[in-house]
Amino acid sequence: TVPQIKRLLNNAHALKNQSVPWLYPAGGLPPKRAKALRLPSQSLFNKSVAMLFSKRSTRTRVAAETSATLLGGRALFLGKEDIQLGVNETVRDSARVIGGMCQGIFARVGDHSEVEELAKYSPVPVVNALSSLWHPTQILADLMTLHQHSQLFGTPAPEAPHVPEHEQPQGNKHNKSLQKTKRPHAELPPLRPLTIAYVGDSANVLHDMLVTFPRFGHKMRVATPADKKYRAPDAVWDRVVELGCDKDIMWTDSPHKAVEGADVVVTDTWISMGQEAEAEQRYKDFAGFQVTEELCRVGGANPDWKFMHCLPRKQSEVDDEVFYGPRSLVFPEADNRKWTIMSVFDAVIGKWDLDGDRWSK
Ligand code: CP
Ligand code: NVA
Repeated sequence: TVPQIKRLLNNAHALKNQSVPWLYPAGGLPPKRAKALRLPSQSLFNKSVAMLFSKRSTRTRVAAETSATLLGGRALFLGKEDIQLGVNETVRDSARVIGGMCQGIFARVGDHSEVEELAKYSPVPVVNALSSLWHPTQILADLMTLHQHSQLFGTPAPEAPHVPEHEQPQGNKHNKSLQKTKRPHAELPPLRPLTIAYVGDSANVLHDMLVTFPRFGHKMRVATPADKKYRAPDAVWDRVVELGCDKDIMWTDSPHKAVEGADVVVTDTWISMGQEAEAEQRYKDFAGFQVTEELCRVGGANPDWKFMHCLPRKQSEVDDEVFYGPRSLVFPEADNRKWTIMSVFDAVIGKWDLDGDRWSK
């Protein structure tokens, strides 16, 4: 739900603020300062997270392994050559056995049904690390990045909360309790409603944007090639409609139309993992879909538009000028994979116990 996502994002922001001084102490930590800093949540202390990855990964894997360490626990990387999952043992049996030894499962799978099956039979929480249909942890990082850069979009600063006169500090400089108004791990900055254009393939990353961004007040304009196979599958579109997101989504086969008025332009690879055999046909079908300065100028994007991409990136979908240029938010976006995955592990695995799923209550 939206409040749960907001909690995850605020927790990611706090975990980042707490962890960065530990990880990157400028010039080493002087002992006094070290004492003043708090360790981030140690909710994974003595716990293990099984990472079942049947596809490659750089960001998701590194984010998950380093997050588990920071939360005081451990992640076990189990690639498709390492374990029996779906090869010499059913997904159902592996879920029960792995879930009997670990406190959480983070799974990157082929067909989405595999992660559903894991969740059905695992005695511990299962988090989707990417499937054929969805990539939920990516969209958490995207939202966090947009909020952290809200000043680039001209988001007005929130109004200061009204404090009645009789409750206002009386200006006693020596009264410490009156000075404690600064919050060290303040919430993520607010963000004005944006127009977000997606130019590319209707794949897992876009699908999670479709069911999330409109619920946060953003409009989406999507361009995919004309062939129907590049439209969102029914399972995704049904969910979009169920959540009432469809009214805020415009879909076209024209990249120029999609970027009209866009504050943010996003794309993803044209050839997702597992689609390598279709590469030749896809390159033909996506002709004209490369994100460039010219495309966005001619299409009439907001002159200050920013660029996002989940990575890994190929030049075909976005040129170097945009990708490495001043509009690009791609590396902060990649960094935020860590804090958002850490937040998910903290909430869903670290603070969950066998007596009841406290997180969802
Ligand atoms: N964006 C993303 O999921 O990257 P990896 O495939 O490298 O994990
Ligand atoms: N759509 C891409 C995302 C990679 C992070 C894929 O599934 O390969």
